Amino acid sequence: MTEESLRMFLTLSDAVIITDSRHHIVDVNSAYEHITGYNRETILGAKASVVKSKYTNKATYKSMNEALNKGESWSGIFINKKCNGDLWHSSISITPYLIDEETYYVGIFRELEHLEEGIYIAEDRRNNIQGVLLKVLAISCEIRDPAIEDHLTRVQQITESFLLRHNDRLKLRLSDDYMQSVIHSSIMHDIGKSGVPEGILYKPGPLTSYERLIVEMHPLIGVDILEKINSELQDSFFKDELSVARNIILHHHEKWDGSGYPSKLRGTDIPFEARVVSIVDVYDALTSRRPYKEIWPEEQALAFLQEHKGTSFDPDLIDTFVSLHGS
Ligand SMILES: [Fe+2]
Repeated sequence: MTEESLRMFLTLSDAVIITDSRHHIVDVNSAYEHITGYNRETILGAKASVVKSKYTNKATYKSMNEALNKGESWSGIFINKKCNGDLWHSSISITPYLIDEETYYVGIFRELEHLEEGIYIAEDRRNNIQGVLLKVLAISCEIRDPAIEDHLTRVQQITESFLLRHNDRLKLRLSDDYMQSVIHSSIMHDIGKSGVPEGILYKPGPLTSYERLIVEMHPLIGVDILEKINSELQDSFFKDELSVARNIILHHHEKWDGSGYPSKLRGTDIPFEARVVSIVDVYDALTSRRPYKEIWPEEQALAFLQEHKGTSFDPDLIDTFVSLHGS
């Protein structure tokens, strides 16, 4: 039975849920029924977590529990699940009330999808939009190569498993957002090739030193393209993503011993994300057919990477990459 003095909250137009100290539902209002699709009669007595999805950040629950355990109110963003399985994003404030030595929690939800201004974009949706835009940009820049989409998709997939394994193996505690940015941006590494003449880019056989100079401009051309996006956009929405992409585009041909290009960076001066993608890029190039070479078997490509561990490539990253392939 809901404590009488809390009943006034049920008249609010936002969705309201009242639970006892063990988070069992003691009452909800009609807006809550409407949003969640749960019928009041059937949900009373259930745990409030009945609407929980796996998508809300763990840190969100942690900060909520910390505040509520101290008897403080808390507000944050939840990604919950409706009765029919659809996700809904809401801003919620939860306030504890002590009545006759019993704690009650009053949760007030506002569904973010219904904000008229369109200022809220759910994280999974935002990630998807970013991923698709970057992929289309990358493919467009290398559209002259018919096999490019497969190469880029492979680079992205290998980068993902490589990065997750490395983070795990060395307990780096890289954030999910950062890893997502590296994975998304990995497909952008060669966008600057759009500025390299086709005759040089796809020349079967060795390049002259002049032609090589032109090819080696592709990181700089790529950064120019990215800077153009940045200056047109002038929005913090893509800020982190673009700075990771910039490092990858500019530095994916640097070498661990400082003999790479364009900046001759050495060791850990090379941004981490660029060291990751340089290994993936070389591995995929070796194990794919190119105008000037046949496909190398996986073992041969891995042997090449190991041979250049500490000269071309970050030794720790090579150890992870090799472990990924079970050698
Ligand atoms: Fe490249």
